[in-house]
Amino acid sequence: MKYGYFDDKKREYVINNPRTPWPWINYLGNEDFFSLISNSAGGYTFYKDAKFRRITRYRYNNVPMDSGGKYFYINDGDCVWSPGWKPCKTELDTYECRHGMNYTNIKGEKNGIIANVLYFVPLKTWAEVQRLTLTNNSKKTKKLKVFSFTEWCLWNAASDMENFQRNFSTGEVEIEGSVIYHKTEYKERRDHYAYYSVNVPVQGYDTDRESFFGLYNGFDEPQVVAEGKPGNTVAHGWSPIASHYIEVELKPGESKDFIFILGYVENKQDEKWESKNIINKKKAKETIARFNSVSKVDAALADLRNYWDNLLSIYTVDSGDEKVDRMVNIWNQYQCMITFCFSRSASFFESGIGRGMGFRDSNQDLTGFVHQIPERARERIIDIASTQFPDGGCYHQYQPLNKRGNNDIGGGFNDDPLWLILGTVSYIKETGDFGILDEKVPFDNDISVARSLFDHLTVSFDHVVNNLGPHGLPLIGRADWNDCLNLNCFSNDPNESFQTTENKTEGSKAESVMIAGLFVVYGRDYIDLCKKLGKNKEAERAQKLVDTMVDVIKKYGWDGEWFIRAYDYYGHKIGSNENEESKIFIESQGWCTMAGIGKEEGLCTKALNAVKERLDSKYGIVLNNPAFTKYYIEYGEISSYPAGYKENAGVFCHNNPWIMIGETVVGNGNRAWEYYKKICPSYLEDISELHKTEPYVYAQMVAGKDAFKPGEAKNSWLTGTASWNFYAVTQFMLGIRPEYDGLLIDPCIPTDWKGFKAVRKFRGAVYEIEVVNPYGKSKGIKEVVIDGQKYGSNLIPVYKSGTIHKVKIVIG
Ligand code: BGC
Repeated sequence: MKYGYFDDKKREYVINNPRTPWPWINYLGNEDFFSLISNSAGGYTFYKDAKFRRITRYRYNNVPMDSGGKYFYINDGDCVWSPGWKPCKTELDTYECRHGMNYTNIKGEKNGIIANVLYFVPLKTWAEVQRLTLTNNSKKTKKLKVFSFTEWCLWNAASDMENFQRNFSTGEVEIEGSVIYHKTEYKERRDHYAYYSVNVPVQGYDTDRESFFGLYNGFDEPQVVAEGKPGNTVAHGWSPIASHYIEVELKPGESKDFIFILGYVENKQDEKWESKNIINKKKAKETIARFNSVSKVDAALADLRNYWDNLLSIYTVDSGDEKVDRMVNIWNQYQCMITFCFSRSASFFESGIGRGMGFRDSNQDLTGFVHQIPERARERIIDIASTQFPDGGCYHQYQPLNKRGNNDIGGGFNDDPLWLILGTVSYIKETGDFGILDEKVPFDNDISVARSLFDHLTVSFDHVVNNLGPHGLPLIGRADWNDCLNLNCFSNDPNESFQTTENKTEGSKAESVMIAGLFVVYGRDYIDLCKKLGKNKEAERAQKLVDTMVDVIKKYGWDGEWFIRAYDYYGHKIGSNENEESKIFIESQGWCTMAGIGKEEGLCTKALNAVKERLDSKYGIVLNNPAFTKYYIEYGEISSYPAGYKENAGVFCHNNPWIMIGETVVGNGNRAWEYYKKICPSYLEDISELHKTEPYVYAQMVAGKDAFKPGEAKNSWLTGTASWNFYAVTQFMLGIRPEYDGLLIDPCIPTDWKGFKAVRKFRGAVYEIEVVNPYGKSKGIKEVVIDGQKYGSNLIPVYKSGTIHKVKIVIG
């Protein structure tokens, strides 16, 4: 069953049934100021950091789901309704929600009145614009009472949810004209406030939540809305809100626009006040003035659209399959921007208070985003590297507001350092900017011990080398990519975390074959980089270490039919035929085949066949099989999950592309694409009822074959799945891959594809690429023609910025 459709021309997903199987959301803003918004206008807003600067309140896991947001209530005599259906849930005559590129438009119609709300955050603006357009489609003049609504959060989203003995006494607001200011804690240590305005005179307002709703009412029936009369309340403590009250008269056929601005201001210490206890409103007023007319809002929206036109023109494909095209050209790239902005912090599954920016996550996210705005990727790389420790280890996460490593989680995840090589190399290959390697980057944010970014890569590489176990494989630490494979944790206490509890690394033999594969892949990247820089000695040193690791994997990481996953604390195999449960895991098959380990001897093909046979399912490749059915204290969190969920045999979509890339290494385009389609959201639109999450973005996990409901997705939006799928499909399957010295074109497509076309902007030049497949092959280059001339290589040179080149590739 579908709940809407793709409007590819407008780059929108159009939801026409508000009862989606889960809130289907969108993100507004892409730099500093952000909102999450669901298809029924639920969600919240924050500045930079969803934990420390939460502007509006949201209650996760509420009843009903997704309660609280940016609501409008319309009282039309005997009927009260909301344009997004919720919160009133009055049956609408028509409903439509269009989620686009950083904007959402929600339209409801009831008894001849159409209410259209456009929500977006204009570029370079610390505010969300909401343009409400009311149209009278009936034959009578209508007198409407309109109430806006938003609920302030007391800034720190964590304490906002727990410290009520304080919170209920701190809330403060100011009201001036049609602007409601939220200034809780401004008089002491905070130098920021928020505001909510409308560009017309109001006939009333409310800022005290209980007066607005009535103590015993929910979002669906605010007392003042039902009574059609605002309370004109001024909040003192308790829970401040902002609601404007506007009386609107509309003649038949008449339309009126109202522009609401929800914004955030920071003031310098000595500019905080206008007069005693009256906040300095200058900046708020400036922002409000920038958007106080429909034409200004239209212009700001046009700017946002142009911005996205631009970003999405850098890589486009015409594959002949609209489901592929809409993901590659629109939604997958959009999701990559979102994951770049938020890492794993704020979604409808990530509460914004738990995790900041992940070290490994953010590096991987970069790979799907770097072609869009390389300068931002550059800045991010430096931020991430600044949280590294001098020995190459690193904080697992950092907070976006202060960019400091997060002490709650600490470090010790031994895959983390290697991802910095991926992030940095992806950036240099895209831009050719080797200069980044000379940047002086602190360790643990301590500038006095800053060294070049290149040195950070060296210590990343060496962190693996310096932490090898008894077989010569990398020690796993708290966990590797799989956060839940906690081989040194041994936790019997439900009150402790699997990751951060005492780590029994002393004497541990726990080694990871996945990190070993990762080391070979990114170790080779490191070697290539050294060679490019003329650091031949270092390249030689690294080469020896990588070669040794390849041998070690073949010797101790191969199980006969596939790669084993790890060795546990005691040195016993995990992910081996010898094991009773979880005989095979996806991660080591992915990394060792991407690294081409034992390709000549047929190991890669064997491993990939084992994946097909044991891990593949109708809804994607599961992480391990058979699932764990009991808790293994020596394996940690992974075995705590019921079978078929998350890291215990769920389809963990993040790692499916590793296998897709592995399949391209052995040239099996049919399989790579078969796997791609199984988890690609646009192919799942018809089963939305089962799939549950948005059909326009990837989810982290789809319940696996052992689960109660295979095919049901969870954790949409913020997942490495976005960048890995984009990376796999664009660089290895369509095969258009930035390299230091050009654009490598090496497609691996299904044998029944006749070819495809793509346009890639690369270092300022435009490459118009046509791939033809006259012999029904998957991979291999028979001929390359550039601008009408045969060319001897599929590494297409870097051209002068501004030039356009036609590249034809014949597969064969
Ligand atoms: C985390 C990743 C981790 C993955 C697998 C995700 O939730 O953000 O860092 O690699 O789970 O455990």
